[in-house]
Amino acid sequence: MENRRPLIAGNWKMFKTSPEAVETARQLVKLVAMTTDIDVMIAPPFTALAQVSDVVRGSCVSLGAQNLFWEAQGAFTGAISPAMLVSVGCKYVIIGHSERRQYFNETDETVNKRIKAAFDNDLIPVMCVGESEKERESKNTFSVLDKQLKKGLEDFSADNLKRLVIAYEPVWAIGTGKTATSEQAQEVHRFLRSVLEKSFGNTLAKSIRILYGGSVKPNNIAELMAMPDVDGALVGGASLDPETFSKIVHFKE
Ligand code: PGA
Repeated sequence: MENRRPLIAGNWKMFKTSPEAVETARQLVKLVAMTTDIDVMIAPPFTALAQVSDVVRGSCVSLGAQNLFWEAQGAFTGAISPAMLVSVGCKYVIIGHSERRQYFNETDETVNKRIKAAFDNDLIPVMCVGESEKERESKNTFSVLDKQLKKGLEDFSADNLKRLVIAYEPVWAIGTGKTATSEQAQEVHRFLRSVLEKSFGNTLAKSIRILYGGSVKPNNIAELMAMPDVDGALVGGASLDPETFSKIVHFKE
């Protein structure tokens, strides 16, 4: 792994009320207090961001949001702007998660707008890509990912994308207990990096962190992290319990 600093990110999805989120974050901050060589991020629901922000301030845990809307402000009932996320202390934002694509009709085009809005507001986008089971079975994995990556990053230059994080999340592995093998993950991560290289050059491709997501657990993280192109993990279910998530953060021990 070149000089890419590992990132272990927790996506809490639609779990935890604000008091529950605060308690989980409190425990997590204690459990990972000694972490220095890895970036750690948690993405609680919007309603808990402000309170969790107070808990993680000054710790090694950064705050992320699970989505944003690209407009700066306006009559967009129910939407959350990038500046709102910044104002509660978010550093990262997850964009284009497969659940957003599946249940909320998000597309590569809207992913592109969201990534632009994130960069314009100094948020680090964690852009999610991944193929469905059907697409894998019909041997379309690479073409699907190629399209998601190229369309999602259309009209950006290498200069814009320096802080981009990509998360490869095969849809068939999310919440199913089926993890991609570390070899399958490596194969795809290498492919994604080659697409980045062709579009944006070698320097950028080498510097971008590519996380793996989909049923990451304490017992499979080390194997995944041993792969040269796997630079971290986006963890769903196993990030909800602070003990379990801290074991993933401490995968080297
Ligand atoms: P999972 O979710 O770890 O529960 O499979 C991963 C994700 O959707 O980010």
